[in-house]
Amino acid sequence: MKQQMESIKRTMTCGTPRIADIGKEIAVAGWVQRRRDLGNLLFLDLRDRSGLLQLAFDDQTARPIFEEASRCRSEYVVAAKGTLRRRESPNHDLKTGEVELFVTELTILSESKTPPFEIVNQVKAGMDLRLKYRYLDLRRPEMQQTLILRHKIVKAARDYFDQEGFIEVETPILVKSTPEGARDYLVPSRVHPGSFYALPQSPQLYKQMLMMSGIDRYLQIARCFRDEDLRADRQPEFTQIDLEMSFVSEEDVIAVNEGFMKRLFHDVMGQEIQTPFARLSYQEAMERFGSDKPDVRFSMELCDLSDLLTQTKCSVFANALSTGSVRGINFKGGANQLSRKEIDRLTDFVKTYRAKGLAFTRLLADTESSSYEKYLAPQEKEGIRRRLDAQPGDLLLLVADPCNQVVFDSLGALRCHLADRFSLYEPGTFQFLWITDFPLFEYSEEEGRYLAKHHPFTAVAPQDEDQLLTAPETCHARAYDLILNGCELGGGSIRIHQKALQEKMFQALGFSEEEASKRFGFLLEAFEYGAPPHGGMAYGLDRLVMLLLQKESIRDVIAFPKVQNASEPMSGCPSPVDENQLNDLSIGTLLKEGE
Ligand code: AMO
Repeated sequence: MKQQMESIKRTMTCGTPRIADIGKEIAVAGWVQRRRDLGNLLFLDLRDRSGLLQLAFDDQTARPIFEEASRCRSEYVVAAKGTLRRRESPNHDLKTGEVELFVTELTILSESKTPPFEIVNQVKAGMDLRLKYRYLDLRRPEMQQTLILRHKIVKAARDYFDQEGFIEVETPILVKSTPEGARDYLVPSRVHPGSFYALPQSPQLYKQMLMMSGIDRYLQIARCFRDEDLRADRQPEFTQIDLEMSFVSEEDVIAVNEGFMKRLFHDVMGQEIQTPFARLSYQEAMERFGSDKPDVRFSMELCDLSDLLTQTKCSVFANALSTGSVRGINFKGGANQLSRKEIDRLTDFVKTYRAKGLAFTRLLADTESSSYEKYLAPQEKEGIRRRLDAQPGDLLLLVADPCNQVVFDSLGALRCHLADRFSLYEPGTFQFLWITDFPLFEYSEEEGRYLAKHHPFTAVAPQDEDQLLTAPETCHARAYDLILNGCELGGGSIRIHQKALQEKMFQALGFSEEEASKRFGFLLEAFEYGAPPHGGMAYGLDRLVMLLLQKESIRDVIAFPKVQNASEPMSGCPSPVDENQLNDLSIGTLLKEGE
């Protein structure tokens, strides 16, 4: 048996043979998808990454080989040699469906227990089981196609940016902890007891340093680590297509990246896309879509109704107007699509975005009902209907809140929720959008200080430079985000490259001079040795693959993803380590026995 195993050398992959190959002697290897026993006829469907091939055994087959084939079960690994012949009953669902391999030599290379789920595209197992046995899950053709497409996207990125003069440089994975944004993952140093490296949240500072080094155009397919809560489009460990350019303005970065998207869609998706992409300022995106990553595949835009209600006696609206607003959307034709009960459920939905409630007017053809119109003066009610272009059949949905952000967040999410649920956009369409003119800062109630909306190295718009310390909330950033179908695909900015301005920025963020120097001294010093103006951006590669393949979660496009509690079910990490390992690192834990 051993002799034979070594003698079968694969000459073709399973998905390759066609009618033109009939008569050829070939050898294949792969996993048994299934075995069909029809007495003196036996078939094995053999699977590898390229597809399925039927292996045939009949009364012409030597007895020991027939018996060996009868032993095969699903997921056994076998190698087979034989002659390709025409299949008696072709299977038109298979690329190889017109041929079969009449087997003359067969080796079972490895046996398999019955797998915990069937290796097919329509898998019945839940996500937990699939992730525990991820290596089996990844055998499914759908998952293999995903990984192949991911590879093609990375290759297209490398090819395109290489042609544009970018150089790929690897930056360190053990870096200095400078948390701004998410929490760092820390790695203890054995050699420096009590000191820690951090895993990079992004290569931001290193890529800026490379600009100071004269690299001019940098690219990296970079692993990033952020200790933050998981979501469908967020993993603690993810990959960026990261780039940086010297001597550029926003327009240069945008142009090179539109070229990348055009090339990517052409090479990987076989689609031509139009550039330049549409642009919206942050302010306009919020006003019209309630989001800084709007999905513009459908309209249902937000309308500000506040000016119609300045004299209103309706206390909920009047209270909101003191510091916030009343805004609404019109779900065209929605009156019939949602029952009263379902409208109530939408109220629960907006409550998750901190809204206190959802006001509605339901304009059915024969009856009208409204949760708020009875509290309004006739001209207020009519004014709202006119502004929202209310027609019979429509459902008007309003949120009022003293905090504008709550109004934006809840209506912004509601329009997306309705669009998903009622298929208000064409599936398979791709709508790109640049968002520009971001605020430079956002105020954190929790920390009692301004935080950089993008990161502290983003340049302030030249016209706002004087307000950096006096009125930080009015400053705009030279930042841009690329949105695809309502998801933030990437983002970047033109950076600060002068020491004085960077120091001012740290000051605006509430860092003392000493703290700024302790954390970012190396950057400030580098600015003193000839720093070119520079800017760049980074894409979330996992998000890009997810959107192109129309998957629901980035987990579906990562070979070995983490789950909700940031663990990895297959290997079981994170896990406790030996006392000795901790001792080596001069580390103890505060956990009590049994915790
Ligand atoms: P930013 O933090 O916006 O910018 O990240 C860039 C892009 O990375 C993706 N991304 C993520 N993907 C999966 N899981 C996550 N936890 C996650 N976090 C971010 C998003 C996002 O748009 N250094 C800057 C870029 C720059 O200024 O050049 C940066 O990291 O798609």
